Amino acid sequence: MKIAVCPGSFDPITMGHLDIITRASALFDRVIVLISINVAKKTAFTLAEREALTAKAVAHLPNVEVDSFDGLLVEYVRARQATVIVRGLRAMSDFEYEFQMALANKRLNPEAETMFLTTAAENMYLSSSLVKQIAGFGGNITGLVPACIQPEIEARFANPSR
Ligand code: COA
Repeated sequence: MKIAVCPGSFDPITMGHLDIITRASALFDRVIVLISINVAKKTAFTLAEREALTAKAVAHLPNVEVDSFDGLLVEYVRARQATVIVRGLRAMSDFEYEFQMALANKRLNPEAETMFLTTAAENMYLSSSLVKQIAGFGGNITGLVPACIQPEIEARFANPSR
């Protein structure tokens, strides 16, 4: 059984993430979407909230599960006997950061490969930060995030103190 892990902050999950997860689910027997800690980011949603939003967004994909982990990605990958880490690549600007992470992960766990899927053209400009910025100013985020979680994201930014 080929197991892949799609790690990320998912703060919140966007249509860009969902596209990558959907395509990965067609390539692997099982895909684990792993809500992870990026120490460089201060998140708008808690780990539990991000996990719940992501689980709702991928509920229609039978071979996809969602989990969270606050340790090293490679340790999780090893513990779940996964062999591939899947990441989406948008533009050249993502490349250096992704290359550095892939090399670091390879050094820590030589048995796991990182696989990059190119982002769909319509999601090239999309990011979680962009969604948060638009929602924060009351703008329309339709089509940028999965429809089933859009109301929860809008509600958070309508009442940011919650
Ligand atoms: N289309 C559109 N946008 C996309 C996208 C796609 N296909 N794929 C990613 N993005 C965007 C995201 O929305 C996000 O936007 P933001 O920067 O505005 O938040 C950005 O690209 C990348 O974020 P995300 O995919 O959520 O991942 P990340 O870079 O925050 O994740 C971790 C990094 C969590 C995977 C990494 O820090 C990690 O592995 N942490 C665990 C600890 C560890 O092992 N550290 C050592 C790693 S070497």
